[in-house]
Amino acid sequence: MRFAQVTFAHAGQMAQQAAACVCDILTDAVRRRGWATLALAGGATPRLLYRTLAQTPFATHTPWAAIDVFWSDERCVAPGHPDSNVGMARTAFLTQLALPAENIHAPDMTLPPAQAAQAYEQHIRRYFAARLQAVRAPFDLILLGLGTDGHTASLFPGQTSLHETVRWVVAATPPAEITPAVARVTFTLPLITQAEHVIMLAAGPAKRALVDALTDDRAHAAWRYPAAQVYAQRETLLFYATTEGRA
Ligand code: 6PG
Repeated sequence: MRFAQVTFAHAGQMAQQAAACVCDILTDAVRRRGWATLALAGGATPRLLYRTLAQTPFATHTPWAAIDVFWSDERCVAPGHPDSNVGMARTAFLTQLALPAENIHAPDMTLPPAQAAQAYEQHIRRYFAARLQAVRAPFDLILLGLGTDGHTASLFPGQTSLHETVRWVVAATPPAEITPAVARVTFTLPLITQAEHVIMLAAGPAKRALVDALTDDRAHAAWRYPAAQVYAQRETLLFYATTEGRA
């Protein structure tokens, strides 16, 4: 199936199932070739998943030392800023895993947005140029969130970034209603849709109608929502929790 959607009664159940999927995918990749790559999602929803990854068995039975971690988007704020996706993941689980510092590949947000995007893309291309003979596509797994307007990563409806066909990382400015109101760097559709696996996470009643639209009217949704364009082009697993729970 090109697209699968699973609904959970609670965010805690979704976090446990998502953690099992994440670790199965990465462990299998390490078993096959000795290393694996993961791109983390930002926002609040993945926090419970990340905290779950810091717990047994996910922390102890996953070969984290052979896994390189990236981000599918980041806000243009300092690493220690409360809105930083990198900072959230470090606090939630990365600092608690046996993950060497060189395995963490964060964008350089001390640069202006356009330069940060270009530098991050160059870093990612160099990383995979040295390895692509061993893999069919860049990332083994890209995690994504789902905004209430249908955005994912920092690909927002109606923006030119959705028509990018070459660049892997671009700068983006969120619409006025999206918070935090700061510039971002984001993976583009060409990079996201090459991934071996994509898992999209959403939680809470405010996203129920959007999840239904994505699953029930996919052709039309792809015209309106960047999130729908992802799985129109790439097999995606969409996890939805009806209640947000304690993240
Ligand atoms: C970001 C995220 C963004 C997020 C959605 C959902 O940097 O903001 O990458 O795409 O996943 O906006 O955010 P919540 O999980 O906080 O609802």
